[in-house]
Amino acid sequence: MAKRSFAGKRVILTGASSGIGWYLASELVHAGAYVVITSRREERLRQLRVAFGNPQKRLIAVPGDISSPALRAQLISTCVQKLGGIDIVINNAGVGAIGPFAEAQPERLRKIFEVDFFAAVELTRLAIPHLRFGREPVACMVNSVLGHRAVPGKSEYCAAKFALRGWAEALRLELQPRGIDVVTVSPSTTRSEFFDSLVDTMRGAKSASLGSQSPQTVARKVMQAMKKRKPEMILSPAGKAFVWLSKWAPSFTDRMLLRHAV
Ligand SMILES: NC(=O)c1ccc[n+]([C@@H]2O[C@H](COP(=O)([O-])OP(=O)(O)OC[C@H]3O[C@@H](n4cnc5c(N)ncnc54)[C@H](OP(=O)(O)O)[C@@H]3O)[C@@H](O)[C@H]2O)c1
Repeated sequence: MAKRSFAGKRVILTGASSGIGWYLASELVHAGAYVVITSRREERLRQLRVAFGNPQKRLIAVPGDISSPALRAQLISTCVQKLGGIDIVINNAGVGAIGPFAEAQPERLRKIFEVDFFAAVELTRLAIPHLRFGREPVACMVNSVLGHRAVPGKSEYCAAKFALRGWAEALRLELQPRGIDVVTVSPSTTRSEFFDSLVDTMRGAKSASLGSQSPQTVARKVMQAMKKRKPEMILSPAGKAFVWLSKWAPSFTDRMLLRHAV
């Protein structure tokens, strides 16, 4: 099948104010797409438009909290009214937390699921009727290696990413007859602002990792996954090795995690 082109595509991108989302906005604009960008920090969205010169008004900012149903409806209506339809939805906004489940309040689980799971699922639900009429339509989920193998100290985040991956797997088959692709991409540790914005986490809490990637590299790989129509893609060699190890040597992986991740 031919590679997906981004020229002229009408995109909704969440979590555009920093990290992976910031560079995804850049990649998309340079590939010729028109992008409705969103996040809570309005000033960052303005800076993003300035940074890329916003050629031919390719970036349209709709600031707000993605856990709000009203904001999600506004994203859909903005894309349809200003760009004439929706071809691509990228659910990238995400938050995490560090710390043992038993010591956390129930709100931590709720907050993470609202952004990482429900917002992505419900935005996609609203987009599907428009994607049906889109050009090479795709719904892309920015997941995580921790949506393949859970680790101690991040139970709520892992649960949300597992849920998102499971839901996307079912949705992929449901939407296949309608010609809509569902792509799940799984970065491993990325040098973004993610660990500065953890919810309900003690300052200075550390996260163990097997190296890290730049958000530019991750954004390029997300573009590749959509371009090559990959259903699922783990984005780093370390992430692939970790998932492989946990599948074929689960007890060894448990011991390794107990030694290094808590
Ligand atoms: N960094 C990592 O190590 C890593 C590894 C694997 C997967 N990921 C995934 O990659 C995705 C992007 O994360 P990142 O690394 O680029 O982190 P980041 O720099 O912290 O970016 C997260 C983005 O999500 C937005 N966001 C968070 N809560 C929001 C809310 N309630 N409403 C609207 N927007 C919200 C943030 O914008 P505002 O704060 O302006 O709202 C920001 O634009 C996430 O889904 C994350 O789970 C990250």
